[in-house]
Amino acid sequence: MPCKNLKIVCFSPTRTTRRILDAIAEGIGAEQLEVIDVTRSDRVPESCECAGDDLVIIGAPVYSGRIPLTAVERFKVLKSCGTPVVPVVVYGNRAYEDALVELTDLASEAGFKPFGGAAFIGEHSFSTEKTPIAVSRPDKDDLGKAREFGRFIAAKLAAGDISGVDIPGDRPYKERSPKASASPISNDDCQLCGACERVCPTAAIAVGSLVETDPDKCIFCCACVKVCAFDARKLEVPRLLEVSQWLADNFSECREPETFI
Ligand SMILES: Cc1cc2nc3c(=O)[nH]c(=O)nc-3n(C[C@H](O)[C@H](O)[C@H](O)COP(=O)(O)O)c2cc1C
Repeated sequence: MPCKNLKIVCFSPTRTTRRILDAIAEGIGAEQLEVIDVTRSDRVPESCECAGDDLVIIGAPVYSGRIPLTAVERFKVLKSCGTPVVPVVVYGNRAYEDALVELTDLASEAGFKPFGGAAFIGEHSFSTEKTPIAVSRPDKDDLGKAREFGRFIAAKLAAGDISGVDIPGDRPYKERSPKASASPISNDDCQLCGACERVCPTAAIAVGSLVETDPDKCIFCCACVKVCAFDARKLEVPRLLEVSQWLADNFSECREPETFI
């Protein structure tokens, strides 16, 4: 069963998940590649049927040991009758806890057939110069391992083997953390260029003669902070600054990607 049609399905506000999935796809080397990137609300298709002879790689970041609710909602457009799928999570060097098992279950519930899985590391969304966490991950080695994982996926599929594998994580999943009503803010260096508005996955930002952010829509993904060319957007929420410091102090040792196939 060689892979003809590969679909990448992803939610990836700061693009680390997307980069890992692209590298896995390179390793698979399918004849045709379709990308369904649901990061922006206006790019979510109404529905997405996957055929039995497609291969799907689905990926999302880890938020508090779970799949972000926004991604869970957007992945609901996916439908399948037995399409082989490989779920992949990307986390900021702390832990992925129940996220990979949750994504695997989501895929099974939508009719897919999970036959592998992986957890890779990406620069933490909260990483800053003062509180560096997994800076510049995925790096060259991570991307090499992602391509190698892609080759293993292709070989397993070519052998006609889509048997499931054990995925670490607990059921019931850990409780989601309650969401605070807050957001990054723009300072006086802001040039009103609108880049933050364009990358916001929840349409929480409106740029006019000033930048307005809806704190209830913000999911703290930090896409707006990372995209700002003027370094004018900061996540200065006291509780999250404490978390960033704790992460930088306690999770500086590089974790390695884990693959299950
Ligand atoms: C709200 C929030 C919660 C997060 N929780 C975790 C976590 O539990 N463990 C972890 O290691 N990283 C955590 N991260 C870091 C992201 O998983 C990591 O930066 C990932 O690479 C982001 O993926 P993206 O670039 O595709 O958006 C969290 C990030 C955010 C914004």
